[in-house]
Amino acid sequence: MRQMNVAVVGATGAVGTKIIEKLIERKFPIKSLKLLASKRSAGSTIQINGEDYVVEETSETAFEGIDIAFFSAGGSITEHFAKHAIEAGALVIDNTSAFRMTEGVPLVVPEVNPDAIREHNGLIANPNCSTIQMVAALKGVKDQFGINRLIVSTYQAVSGAGADAIEELKQQSENFENRVDNKADILPSGSAEKHYPIAFNVLPQIDLFGEGDYTLEELKMMNETRKIFDDYEMSVAATCVRLPVVTGHSESVYIELDRDDVTVDQLKEAIRSVPNVVLQDDPSQQLYPMPLFAEGTDEVFVGRVRKDRDKKNGFHLWIVADNLIKGAALNSVQIAETYLEQQ
Ligand code: A2P
Repeated sequence: MRQMNVAVVGATGAVGTKIIEKLIERKFPIKSLKLLASKRSAGSTIQINGEDYVVEETSETAFEGIDIAFFSAGGSITEHFAKHAIEAGALVIDNTSAFRMTEGVPLVVPEVNPDAIREHNGLIANPNCSTIQMVAALKGVKDQFGINRLIVSTYQAVSGAGADAIEELKQQSENFENRVDNKADILPSGSAEKHYPIAFNVLPQIDLFGEGDYTLEELKMMNETRKIFDDYEMSVAATCVRLPVVTGHSESVYIELDRDDVTVDQLKEAIRSVPNVVLQDDPSQQLYPMPLFAEGTDEVFVGRVRKDRDKKNGFHLWIVADNLIKGAALNSVQIAETYLEQQ
């Protein structure tokens, strides 16, 4: 296989660090690895396989000779630098929401729509973390029985908001123990006017508010799900909530199928048919997915599968995955692997 010159933009961040880990763990064919971040961390070193790599400042000329550039440093950085990477001949795999809904930009979960990769124009978008785990869990069900309505409520970890948000939760938890007044600067959104403590709290706001009083995170889930499934008729509604959990997003999902003769066993079989999706569902053993146990894993876990008591075509389920791994870094690396396999 061709060896690739790889760059990671946001290499010092919560997701960038995991992208590097996954590239190494999965033996991605790397010829050279360039670590890019902001001016603040330029000159610092990151140890990979016992070797020190120096972090460089992201610049317009940093992408000379790069074949694949992973971006995970925020939407504005992608908006500014991705075109320079593409002009330099690199394929950009972007973990931000900057171009996800742009026409001509594939939005890919390799277990769900790998063929969309072929239509790229230099940039492939990695979906929102909550979207990835949901569409992977529902892919088999959608293909076999059709889904015409989906209502999701999320229970999202702070690491989805970056390393600073993890620090904020830890600091607030310590302050709470010590009866120190809690200060909030990051959550629910760095750019929001008001901030609220996340420790011992639940925030029904992720990102800023948008159209119809849905938050941007909710709109991302609703729009991205339709784009990935290539089904713009499907009705999707989301409520996104942040919890004081460090890593691992959970989701309570209600779906209505096109058919009303599907059994719970058939639904479970369809869920299990998708690679990297694991059914963890045995109430007699209190077996169900939980974020604490999903942390550090590659899979999407599904449990609590139940038929609705009133709607014949309605089902409820519970989906959990590590938001930094399958929800971000692993999915990005899988996109790169699938792209190479398709060459
Ligand atoms: P740095 O560590 O130098 O600030 P997280 O999602 O965990 O908050 O991480 C954000 C990532 O984006 C970090 O690697 C951070 O680098 C990087 N980043 C932030 N601002 C810029 C910028 N202006 N140019 C390039 N990278 C940036």
